[in-house]
Amino acid sequence: MRKTNADKCTNRELHSICIPLLFKKFHTFIMSDTQQIWLDGNIIDKADAKISVFDHGLLYGDGIFEGIRFYSGRVFRLEEHIERLILSAKAIHMQLPWTLEEMCQATVDTVKANGLTDGYIRLVITRGEGGLGLNPYLCPKPSMFIIAAAIQLYPEENYTNGLELITCATRRPTPGSLSPQVKSLNYLNNIMAKIECIQAGVIEGVMLNEQGYVAECTGDNVFVIKRGKLYTPPVSDGSLDGITRQVIFELCKKAGLELTEKSMTRYDLYTADEIFLTGTAAEVIPAVKYDQRLIGDGTPGPISKQLVEDFRALANSEGTPCV
Ligand SMILES: Cc1ncc(COP(=O)(O)O)c(C=O)c1O
Repeated sequence: MRKTNADKCTNRELHSICIPLLFKKFHTFIMSDTQQIWLDGNIIDKADAKISVFDHGLLYGDGIFEGIRFYSGRVFRLEEHIERLILSAKAIHMQLPWTLEEMCQATVDTVKANGLTDGYIRLVITRGEGGLGLNPYLCPKPSMFIIAAAIQLYPEENYTNGLELITCATRRPTPGSLSPQVKSLNYLNNIMAKIECIQAGVIEGVMLNEQGYVAECTGDNVFVIKRGKLYTPPVSDGSLDGITRQVIFELCKKAGLELTEKSMTRYDLYTADEIFLTGTAAEVIPAVKYDQRLIGDGTPGPISKQLVEDFRALANSEGTPCV
């Protein structure tokens, strides 16, 4: 097929802007050829880990997942992740043939089989093989697979100097559509927003809900600090009840910091003293510029820096053994 000028331009832009950005700025998951995958009860070579093209996880994004981290030979907040996964399954009316304990054990076994001490786990449950129609009741058996990989973080300079954010035009879905609490295999909404970030040359962006209130970022929760007090949007404004978000509640309580859930507009972020983001992959990371406005003096503030340190100390000191 002949390419139009618009196609050529898009490709050129992709190569000159997006691809270098991807390699320089984004998390890299390091996959080895000898990687071992847990698939439906067996640990097998990556090359043999296959899912049917009739699986509704692939055909419709009908499935759920969790991203989990392990540090220093221990899986961080494993039970909390599996509990959230079970709630996602319940919400999409998927009967799981595995118990919480079995899913925790399978996760630990996968990390062990790969001989890793630090990295990222992706646990995916698909609706399973079925017909070409939507009907999930024609998929008799869900499939679960677990990948464990080493992760190269955002460059350390992002943690010391902070990130830049934009507002994404793509909104979080309204409460009447699929709840953001379901970590479903259909992440297209977030991917559309992520494309906007990449095209704008930044790593992350703020997503608003239909009413214009701040919900979260494309893959992270957002926190604001103003006059020594912390604020984060309530989950009812369209954010995921993040596991790292919950850890921030704990760390603030311990440090005697006041943290409140509050509906916020972009104004609250533009005028914040500090902003930071939280997520399993990103951990805790300061943001210093938003829609071209400097946050505070444009460098990570003291509370954000303290929470980055506190989170790292906690993540490296507890968890379910996996070596
Ligand atoms: C949309 C979205 N928001 C927030 C988060 C952060 O949640 P957690 O801290 O559980 O990783 C994630 C990552 O899972 C996410 O995908």
